[in-house]
Amino acid sequence: MGTFTFDGLSIHYLDEGAGDQAVVFVHGFPFRASMWEPQFPVAVEAGRRVVAPDLPGFGRSAVPAERSAYSIDNYADLVAALVGDLGLERVVLVGLSMGGYIALAVARRHPHVLAGLVLADTRADPDSPEGRQTRSDHQALVEERGDVTPLVDGLLTKILAPAPSGDGGPRRAEVGATLGDMMRSTAPAGWIGALEAMKQRSDQTDLLPSIAVPTLVVVGEGDALAPVDVAEAMAKAIPGARLEIVPGAGHVANLENPEVFNRAFSEFLSTLPTGS
Ligand code: MLT
Repeated sequence: MGTFTFDGLSIHYLDEGAGDQAVVFVHGFPFRASMWEPQFPVAVEAGRRVVAPDLPGFGRSAVPAERSAYSIDNYADLVAALVGDLGLERVVLVGLSMGGYIALAVARRHPHVLAGLVLADTRADPDSPEGRQTRSDHQALVEERGDVTPLVDGLLTKILAPAPSGDGGPRRAEVGATLGDMMRSTAPAGWIGALEAMKQRSDQTDLLPSIAVPTLVVVGEGDALAPVDVAEAMAKAIPGARLEIVPGAGHVANLENPEVFNRAFSEFLSTLPTGS
C-alpha cells in the first residue's frame, strides 16, 4: 500500500510484488483498486510489480467535492503521474470499463508510459444522448438524497447480467455482495463526479488503429454494457490485438470468471517482449 499526491489530492494505491516491470490496474465505476485482487498473483508470478490506485472519489483516496474536478483525462494524467512517481518507465495497463476509458486516454495522452494494454469490458465510443441523460438523472438523485444506496441494486442487475453459460448461483451472489459493498461505500461526491467524467468523455475510436503496444481485449459473453460485438470491433481496429470472450461472465469478467480471465491475462503477459 502507498499514497502519493496528485493535484493536491492524497491518492491511495495497492502495491505488491517487486521489480522494474509493472502492471497498473485501473478500476471501473463505482469500485476501487481491490476489485483487481484476484489478478494480482498472476502478475506477481510473472515477475511483475502490481500497482492499483483508488481513483479520486473512490476507496481510500481523497474525494473532490466539485464535479468539475473529475474527468477521464484527469484520471489518465493521474495514472501517468503515478507511473512517473514510482520510477517505472513503461507499464502494462489494465482497465475495466471506466478503467478502460482511462486506459485509452492514457494511450492518447501518455503513450510513452505503455508497454501493453488490457481493455476489459469497455468501449472506445462516448455516451449516447440517452446514456448522458440517464447519468444526469442519477446525479440528480444522488445529490437530492445525499446517498448512493438507491442506485446500487439497479446497477448490480445490469452489471451482472446473466451470461448465457453462467450458473447465476453462488459465484454471482458472492461477486454481487463484493461489488455491492464497494458501491455502497462510495462517497456521493465521488459517484457524481465519475458520472460527470464518463458523461463528458470524448470518442476514442479514431485512436484505436494507432495503438502500437500489444493489446488484449477481454469481454464477458453476457456483458450488457459493453457487449461482445463492441469488443470484437475494438479488437479488430487495434493492430494485432487479441480478443478473449469470457464465458459465464457479464460486465465484470475478472471477478465473474477469474479462471478464464487469469488464463488469458497470464498468456498475454508471457507473450510480451522481454523488458517490457
Ligand atoms: C463501469 O463499470 O466502469 C461502468 O459501468 C462504466 C459506465 O457506466 O460506462
